[in-house]
Amino acid sequence: MVDRNGWDADASVPAGPSHDPPASFVEQANVTDEAVYEAFEEEWPDCWERAADLLSWERPYDDVLVDDDAPFYEWFSGGRLNASYNCLDRHLEAGRKTHAAIRWEGKRGERETYTYQDLATAVNEFAATLLDLGVEENDIVTLYLPMIPELPIAMLACARIGAPHSVVFAGLSADALATRMDAADSEYLVTCDGYYRRGDAFNQKSKVDNALISLDQDVETVVVDRLGDDLPHVLGEREYDYDELVTAHAGETVEPVTRNAEDMLFLMYTSGTTGEPKGVVHTTGGYLAHVAWSSRAVLDIKPEDTYWCAADIGWITGHSYIVYGPLALGTTTVMYEGTPDYPDRDRLWEIVEKNAVDVFYTAPTAIRAFMKWGEEYPERHDLSSLRLLGTVGEAISARPWRWYREHIGGGDAPIVDTWWQTETGAITVSTLPGVDAMKPGSAGPGLPGIDARVVDADGEDVDPGETGYLTIARPWPGMARTLYDGDDRFRSEYWSQFSDPDDGRWWYFSGDAATIDEDGYITVLGRVDDVINVSGRRLSTMEIESAITGVDGVVEAAVVGRSGEGGGTEIYAYVSTEADCEPDATLRERIVEGVESSIGPIATPASVVFTPELPKTRSGKIMRRLLEDVANGDQLGDTSALRNPEIVGEIQTEIQTE
Ligand code: WTA
Repeated sequence: MVDRNGWDADASVPAGPSHDPPASFVEQANVTDEAVYEAFEEEWPDCWERAADLLSWERPYDDVLVDDDAPFYEWFSGGRLNASYNCLDRHLEAGRKTHAAIRWEGKRGERETYTYQDLATAVNEFAATLLDLGVEENDIVTLYLPMIPELPIAMLACARIGAPHSVVFAGLSADALATRMDAADSEYLVTCDGYYRRGDAFNQKSKVDNALISLDQDVETVVVDRLGDDLPHVLGEREYDYDELVTAHAGETVEPVTRNAEDMLFLMYTSGTTGEPKGVVHTTGGYLAHVAWSSRAVLDIKPEDTYWCAADIGWITGHSYIVYGPLALGTTTVMYEGTPDYPDRDRLWEIVEKNAVDVFYTAPTAIRAFMKWGEEYPERHDLSSLRLLGTVGEAISARPWRWYREHIGGGDAPIVDTWWQTETGAITVSTLPGVDAMKPGSAGPGLPGIDARVVDADGEDVDPGETGYLTIARPWPGMARTLYDGDDRFRSEYWSQFSDPDDGRWWYFSGDAATIDEDGYITVLGRVDDVINVSGRRLSTMEIESAITGVDGVVEAAVVGRSGEGGGTEIYAYVSTEADCEPDATLRERIVEGVESSIGPIATPASVVFTPELPKTRSGKIMRRLLEDVANGDQLGDTSALRNPEIVGEIQTEIQTE
């Protein structure tokens, strides 16, 4: 049995008929030989040398995989390299100085191109700045920036000097920033005065000020002046202007620090099953090899391409597929600061046309919005440059899949539906677009070398069509190495459910439910734990609940996912209040504010339902499953185990009269 927390209602429908990739695509694809699957099996783990070969190593590795301390694996151990060297210097040495590295499209129509030389210069100058500020190798530098070029510049500058970055999504709240800086003991922060939100100036710096007040450690803060006169700001103690510092280091170069393959490249916080975010640790060699390999094999990126992943660098997708993957391959990566509907709903298609984008990668939630807005918007533009489309973040059901292909992909562009996670580091389940047929609604098989399985509670493979748990039965190079908060949590979060250490069996559990068909294609149904996936973003129900119970007058809260209109998941909150607290519109507003200030607007509940009590079992456990059924208007299961069964009817009445 599997919970249906946040499943896409359509996703359980069997995948539609399969489509072969068009011959014109296959002819030019990076990977076209289906023997790649077999070859990876035969050569495993040495097959992953193909990924490592995409990188430049200062010292060759001794072993592809060291597995004597599972689940703490080492990949390419003994090897030494630098990620910023791999993303910059080696392309300059190859005579590609004037090739565009980043094409930035600003929110107000600004456009900037950074050639590989420009980017290398900016990265060197900022690396010199960081050293001057006192940043040392292995110090964690927090980056709290929106989608402006200074974000990838700062990431690569950190990588250059061997200081792991921890990027916090700019839309998260002051509290969320403080929690992450505190957990990582981070004493350096790069942020900005503010940014434009739908044309208005939005103050980021005041969020930073609030966050820093609550921290014990002293923090050196570098502030990018994004808004100029639109938002004048004064710098306090330990605060520095980005431009001033960089100007003082103009023209300086910093030798890339040589890092062990297993040294940390970055830390990325993500939601887990408890309220505390998890600090996922990614390393230099394995991560970079896996993102480069998957960028090449799955996203079919070539150095001469213009490639656009319309995600935010504040999440793993942007790390792997806006910054590290494409830049390691020396391609041109597009970076967009704005939203898809400002100034109009054709903004993305305008950017595709202007930049002649070859490969476009986005999330199903965006595709559902495009579909709702209508085909007239893409029709305004020439999208014929697009060769391949991708999706990530949640399941894409067959209808949006077809719409995407028809209206964005010109009817025949292949689509890769890529399943992976913050913890997997890079794509792990997907078709190879030059090899495999596509089945709308199904992500595809595990990548070559990735042993993805759908199993029952005992770890046995489920029959085709049956629902089970998505696990990976072998390590892979991009995998998280541990959690910053500790090895124990790493082991218990991912390696306790399906592993059998006595038997030497270490299987990674993803937290997702899935089905698998006769051809080994995996359809991901959603989370089975207390994580809700809203618009492709992971949120912990417990984190939201504790934000709500932090509001005066609230006694208890339970948060579940509800299938929203059009296929996405929304947050549905049940709240019980103190006897003398009026459950009214003001309280509802305070709850929304409470969630926004502790996590950010991405976690705002779509509905808040007040109830005198939450339904509980006799042992006092909140019956979330039942609340989920109520929210989704589904048939209710057995309520006889409840201590207060009458409350269910009351809640249903409350919802109906809302
Ligand atoms: C979900 C994002 C279905 C899944 C890269 C996973 C998907 C979580 C897909 C990870 C997909 C991601 N089909 N579900 N193609 N891709 N997911 O860590 O529930 O932000 O566990 O990483 O997103 O989210 P995360």
